[in-house]
Amino acid sequence: MRVAAAGVRAAGQRLGFVPTMGALHEGHLSLVRRSKREADVTVVSLFVNPAQFGPHEDFLQYPRNLERDSELLLRAGVDFLFAPPVEEIYPADFQTYVTVERVAAPLEGASRPGHFRGVATIVAKLFHIVQPDSAYFGRKDAQQCAVIKQMVRDLNLPVEIVVCPIVREPDGLALSSRNAYLSAEERQAALILHRSLTHARDLILAGEHETPKIITQMRQLIAGEPRARIDYVEAVDPDGFTPRVRLEGSTLIALAVRIGSTRLLDNLLIEDSPPGWRFQL
Ligand code: PAJ
Repeated sequence: MRVAAAGVRAAGQRLGFVPTMGALHEGHLSLVRRSKREADVTVVSLFVNPAQFGPHEDFLQYPRNLERDSELLLRAGVDFLFAPPVEEIYPADFQTYVTVERVAAPLEGASRPGHFRGVATIVAKLFHIVQPDSAYFGRKDAQQCAVIKQMVRDLNLPVEIVVCPIVREPDGLALSSRNAYLSAEERQAALILHRSLTHARDLILAGEHETPKIITQMRQLIAGEPRARIDYVEAVDPDGFTPRVRLEGSTLIALAVRIGSTRLLDNLLIEDSPPGWRFQL
């Protein structure tokens, strides 16, 4: 991978990079297309990173299908697929980790201790191996985007981080590799995430600007879905992930909800752009 990347750079070409854990869907492919538009050569990595899974999480069950994924990437016109074996990335004597502090602490960080340490470590390693000019991430994982941006600034990594919109099913469910775990009934119940965010948008358009009131109403709506169990629903500033009690500047409403045993994420970005609000769902 290093030799291939060095060749690209020596030829004066711009290298775009899309890190993934595979089980590819249209969300991943939207990042690939963006990279192909903006860069000369696109590298996709496929690595189910054990360091970002907790001891009781789904590392072993996580869907893996290298053959199908490489077929999709070939058809999408990706130049290089980097799919290293675990022992190569984490040899037995591995002992160096990247820890991002405040922005990685709340929400996902609080629910999944060690998760962002695993994410920051693998992304730093991949950036060093691939040495991309730009790297593409999905806003579906909004806190991951903020953590990576913080790491890139703090460690002076010469990579431009590009955050891309959430790709959804026609009925609103955000695409996720973990949607494959849902039964037919759970798949229907999972619509409550998107529905609670559109409800938040409607409340804001009706004049409600106090986030605690918006969050309370979202919680009530989600509580009406018997298969759903809330992990968190919070309003934060989208860069630092500190709490926002009123809508000012940009506000991110982020939620994690368990549908049966599957934990799903979604979020709504609200930007105060006079004369009105701008919503990114
Ligand atoms: P993974 O879950 O495979 O996601 C890879 C990239 O695809 C992430 O940037 C994620 O935000 C993006 N993505 C997932 N679903 C999306 C959707 N519906 N719309 C738009 N983008 C979407 O995130 C990871 O892998 C890992 O943590 C990784 C960054 C690869 C480090 O291991």
